[in-house]
Amino acid sequence: METKVVIIDRSNMDTDALQKAADIIKNGGLVAFPTETVYGLGGNARDAMAAKKIYEAKGRPSDNPLIVHIADISALSVLAVDIPQSAYQLAEQFWPGPLTMILKKSDLVPKSTTGGLDTVAVRFPSDPIAKALIQTSGCYIAAPSANASGRPSTTCADHVLEDLNGRIEMILDGGPVQIGLESTIIDLTEKIPVILRPGYVTKQQLEDCIGKVLVDKGIMRTGKEEVFPAIAKAPGMKYRHYAPKGKLTVYEGEEAAVITCINQKIAEKMNSGALVGVIATEETRNSYIGGMVRSIGSRHDEEAIAAHLFQILREFDSLHAEYIFSESFSDNRLGHAIMNRLLKAAGYDIVEV
Ligand code: TXA
Ligand code: MG
Repeated sequence: METKVVIIDRSNMDTDALQKAADIIKNGGLVAFPTETVYGLGGNARDAMAAKKIYEAKGRPSDNPLIVHIADISALSVLAVDIPQSAYQLAEQFWPGPLTMILKKSDLVPKSTTGGLDTVAVRFPSDPIAKALIQTSGCYIAAPSANASGRPSTTCADHVLEDLNGRIEMILDGGPVQIGLESTIIDLTEKIPVILRPGYVTKQQLEDCIGKVLVDKGIMRTGKEEVFPAIAKAPGMKYRHYAPKGKLTVYEGEEAAVITCINQKIAEKMNSGALVGVIATEETRNSYIGGMVRSIGSRHDEEAIAAHLFQILREFDSLHAEYIFSESFSDNRLGHAIMNRLLKAAGYDIVEV
């Protein structure tokens, strides 16, 4: 099939284009669209065939559940049952926005959408294009990140096209996304809510809203060890994710020592004729002796680092980097999500300098 790319302007939305995209969803087809976190690959959440098509287009295992996107808080009580008060408090504070809640599913949600689980992931995105698409289609939209399974999530329409061209009907191109990392996922089916995936909404913010929150063992870093992700409760977290084609290694330690160490590795790999990429910062970009050096942003600007991470990993893929050496970043606040994605991409290959 031919994948149509339609540019859409947030401040002046082409209602005709939106209607076409909405019709595709209504008729069981797939449309990729921007959200504030990453691009999503959308289909009708109540249509089991649409879910099947999503899994096929991504090459994703069908036991990995999809997030259902809504455009109105009242949809929560349609899709979920036994909803705790905390869900409404979180919705009030963080929706629309980059937070996904896991709740017991209602009979309305087919198990093909939830990967066979009795729970459903619900999110109300803030991007006006996402909102308009959901409203115009009159559907709840099931949407995983719009990347081929195993590749970094997509933060612009070109990346979606790279992975899904010919596999989906349409891409709504709203330009680069705002955040660049996927939503925070919180499981509200446990007595004490558990964060299954760190994101833009931080643990502290969640605790300020609903009290004590735990972090799933699968995403916890205890000292230098990351608990093996196979035990993560979000099925998606157990797969090797966000993997660049080259071998990515993360160097942790004092800045000057990290630079020295990465420079040694650059020299070693370049001497053997390999293509080398370096993930540096604004502060360190001129400190490297060779290789393809990319700045991910200022070390002090977590938002910039989050926004550029997946884009840089993809760029190194297209440049055929065989080895990628990355500095490491603060593990605080949004840094927790950044390091979670970076370490997953590296297959937890961390060097202590
Ligand atoms: O920001 C986002 O959340 C983006 C945009 C498009 O909304 N979506 C996204 O979807 O990241 P996806 O499918 O790439 O990641 C969803 C994650 C997976 O790890 C999946 O296993 C987990 O959510 N998940 C979905 N439903 C779940 C459930 N019922 N229980 C536990 N984990 C669930
Ligand atoms: Mg994904």
